[in-house]
Amino acid sequence: MGQPTFLLFTLLLLLLLLALCRGQRSNLDAGRPSCDGCDLHLSCNCSCGGFSRVPVVTDRALTLDLSFNNITMVTDVDLTGHRPLRALSLHGNRLSVIHPSAFDSLWSLEDLDLSNNQLTALNHEWFNKLGALQRLNLLNNPYRCVGSAPVFQGLVRLRRLALGGPALEEIKAGALSGVTQLDELTVQANNLQRYEAGALAYVWPLGRVSLSLHGPFFSNVSLASAVLRDVSYPETPLILEDLHLIGNQSVQPFRETARRRVRHMTFRNLSTSDEAVVDILVVFDGAPLTSLSFDGITLTGEGRWEKASQTDHRSIDEFFVRNIVVLDVFKFVSFLQLQFLLQYPRKVSVINGKVFVMPCATSGLLVNLQYLDLSDNLLTDMTLVETLCEGQSKLKDLRVLNVSGNALKSLSTVSWLVANLYKLTHLDISRTAYSSMPQSCTWPSTLRHLNISGAKLTTTTPCLPPTLEVLDLSNNDLKSFTEALPALRELHLSGNKFMRVPPGRLFPSLQTLSIQSNTLNMFSRSDFQSYERLQNLQAGQNKFVCSCEFVAFFRSGTKEGGGVSLTDGEESYVCDSPLYLQGKPVGQVRLSVAVCHRVLFVSVSCGVALFAGILVFVLLWRLHAFWYLRMTWAWLKAKHSSRRRRRLREEAASEALLSFDAFVSYSERDASWVETFLVPELEEPSETDEDSANPRTPRPLTLCLHKRDFLPGQWIVDNIMSAMERSRRTIFVLSENFVQSDWCRYELDFSHFWLFNGDGGGEPAILILLEPLSQDDIPRRFCKLRKLMSSTTYLEWPQDEERRGEFWRSLRNALRGEEEED
Ligand SMILES: *[C@@H]1O[C@H](CO)[C@@H](O)[C@H](O)[C@H]1NC(C)=O
Ligand SMILES: *[C@@H]1O[C@H](CO)[C@@H](O)[C@H](O)[C@H]1NC(C)=O
Ligand SMILES: *[C@@H]1O[C@H](CO)[C@@H](O)[C@H](O)[C@H]1NC(C)=O
Ligand SMILES: *[C@@H]1O[C@H](CO)[C@@H](O)[C@H](O)[C@H]1NC(C)=O
Ligand SMILES: *[C@@H]1O[C@H](CO)[C@@H](O)[C@H](O)[C@H]1NC(C)=O
Repeated sequence: MGQPTFLLFTLLLLLLLLALCRGQRSNLDAGRPSCDGCDLHLSCNCSCGGFSRVPVVTDRALTLDLSFNNITMVTDVDLTGHRPLRALSLHGNRLSVIHPSAFDSLWSLEDLDLSNNQLTALNHEWFNKLGALQRLNLLNNPYRCVGSAPVFQGLVRLRRLALGGPALEEIKAGALSGVTQLDELTVQANNLQRYEAGALAYVWPLGRVSLSLHGPFFSNVSLASAVLRDVSYPETPLILEDLHLIGNQSVQPFRETARRRVRHMTFRNLSTSDEAVVDILVVFDGAPLTSLSFDGITLTGEGRWEKASQTDHRSIDEFFVRNIVVLDVFKFVSFLQLQFLLQYPRKVSVINGKVFVMPCATSGLLVNLQYLDLSDNLLTDMTLVETLCEGQSKLKDLRVLNVSGNALKSLSTVSWLVANLYKLTHLDISRTAYSSMPQSCTWPSTLRHLNISGAKLTTTTPCLPPTLEVLDLSNNDLKSFTEALPALRELHLSGNKFMRVPPGRLFPSLQTLSIQSNTLNMFSRSDFQSYERLQNLQAGQNKFVCSCEFVAFFRSGTKEGGGVSLTDGEESYVCDSPLYLQGKPVGQVRLSVAVCHRVLFVSVSCGVALFAGILVFVLLWRLHAFWYLRMTWAWLKAKHSSRRRRRLREEAASEALLSFDAFVSYSERDASWVETFLVPELEEPSETDEDSANPRTPRPLTLCLHKRDFLPGQWIVDNIMSAMERSRRTIFVLSENFVQSDWCRYELDFSHFWLFNGDGGGEPAILILLEPLSQDDIPRRFCKLRKLMSSTTYLEWPQDEERRGEFWRSLRNALRGEEEED
């Protein structure tokens, strides 16, 4: 008995709960701000929006950037429904609370950035459902320990992991459990105090490792060694950041990397003294280190490293230094004693190091050198002459020379300086101060790649060697290009002032042309027909005039893979004019036929309009529309003037209401009948005509005939109207003629007939058929007449004389009507 009640109760409760949940859900949504920064590719940029909660964005979003907001928590419902989301960034918020199931619905998430927040502990439940996650950034949060619980257990696809921050003090053994293989591991542990050996080990393959271990290197060398031991593999590039190396002690951890035969080491943001450099060289003595890079290095010493001259560094192949600060630059000695170091590398880069000269003697030590990059330094034409030993350089193997970003002014100087480098293939003299090109230059015959971008050139001359395959002249002031370069494959002309694409006959081998950000208005098929091999074109960011021709070529020529493909994306081709198309991507412009074929359009549309007009006219004519119109007009006008007349008459009250017995409506062709028979018979009745049985002479009747009784000078319709108004009856003399031949009169009469007989009533017309006429002989549009013929009896004009007397009698009777009876 209680069971059904209980069930019902449960159901009600459930419904109530559901309703409550819904209410809550929509309440939550309602309280949330929304962000509409999503673009066509469903990439939503809600960065720096001042949001304090996760805003509402479309469920279809593929990437969601919420960085640099004020979001403090992610609730369990904030991200529900975002199943397609691939990348989510919450970088730079004040996030301290994430609900354990906040990310549960993000099944497609590949990239999650939670860096620079306030997370004090990592919760393994966050990542439980993120089976697709490949990149996870947890840097710079105030958690102090990783590894107390296996956080990354379910992330089978994880390839890039970044964790740690200033607060990180402890890494426990199980920190990376579940992670098997990584392309990149970043650990920021500048303040690390405890490390359980093996915590970062067992990840293999391991692509690249970045470690910030400032504190351990400074004060806890064995801890630093333990960390290095776990991540050092010969093929794993090791990047060490924020180290401050002073003295023998602080460099001892590198014994681990040397022992484990690490081959690629990079130091970022390193500060070091002469002693430490020597100690490092000692530690790596004989080690198989092939590439050594320093990106951001502060040298506190004087460059006295010759104490390590007995060490062996024959495996060093590449030596890279960028962003060098030498604190005591005036005491810094030359590198002349460093032959033990300089004779081996094939690649040397000293970038942004305030180098103003590399003495000829020093460059003479670089006997194996194939690649020299001295970009962004303080070289001038004069010091370059010294660096390259006045064109007699010993750098016989040099293939690549990069002096980009130096204060060089004379193109002819650099050309004769390199003329004897018989293996030089790449010369980068970009971002220099070359403002003109000499008429002729000497280059090594091997030169293939020349980069003079970012200079101040205004013209090109035959100085350019014909052996070039790749030429970069971007960001100059060029307006035209006139040199023939038969071997050229790639030409970069972006950021100049070209108004037209240069003629293709100059470059028979050209495959790639970039001419972005110039002043091109358009390009056309003929521009590209002269290019025989062109495949890739980059011509975006120009001021395109979206003419019909250009738009059509753009849409057909570039899409149908006519050989040339736009490698810089169609979005960068934007109309600049006409004004109404400004800012619109060329690929999306649809120009109508009206705009593109104006003359044709106008003539065709005029023709069509004319044709339609004629068609309508013919149709109307066929349907007698003009007749109807005219009738309606006449009717309206007649009605109006009839009203006026009546008013006048009422005012005057003089004129007799009825002046005629009958108004006769007839065709002109039947006039003879009317004049010979009707008028004499009715107006001047003769005795003989009368029936002898009836002695009384019939009273003469007065007829109204348009020929005789109409006032001249008045409008015919008015005449008819007034005649009919003043007549007691209307006689219609119907005949073939009446119906067919004499339209005009008939129409007028008929209109009148229509008016008065139609709504006035009471005055039936008398129809006389002069000849047999059936209802079907009358055109359909005279429907009133047809109706009348079927409803009213009509008098037929008898052909034999004998019966005419009867006819007249009937007519007279009909005309007299009630008068007789009175
Ligand atoms: C975040 O909130 C604080 C105060 O709560 C405010 O000072 C700050 O400007 C906000 N930041 C942003 C990016 O809106
Ligand atoms: C460079 O490292 C030092 C510690 O050696 C640190 O204080 C500084 O913030 C670092 N600089 C950058 C730009 O990371
Ligand atoms: C540096 O320390 C190592 C071991 O701690 C020692 O073998 C070496 O001789 C020291 N080198 C110098 C130059 O003091
Ligand atoms: C030369 O250096 C500049 C700036 O460092 C760089 O962009 C360019 O790619 C280098 N050129 C070559 C040929 O390596
Ligand atoms: C030419 O040099 C500029 C600036 O150094 C660089 O950005 C560009 O990539 C170089 N061009 C080529 C084709 O390498």
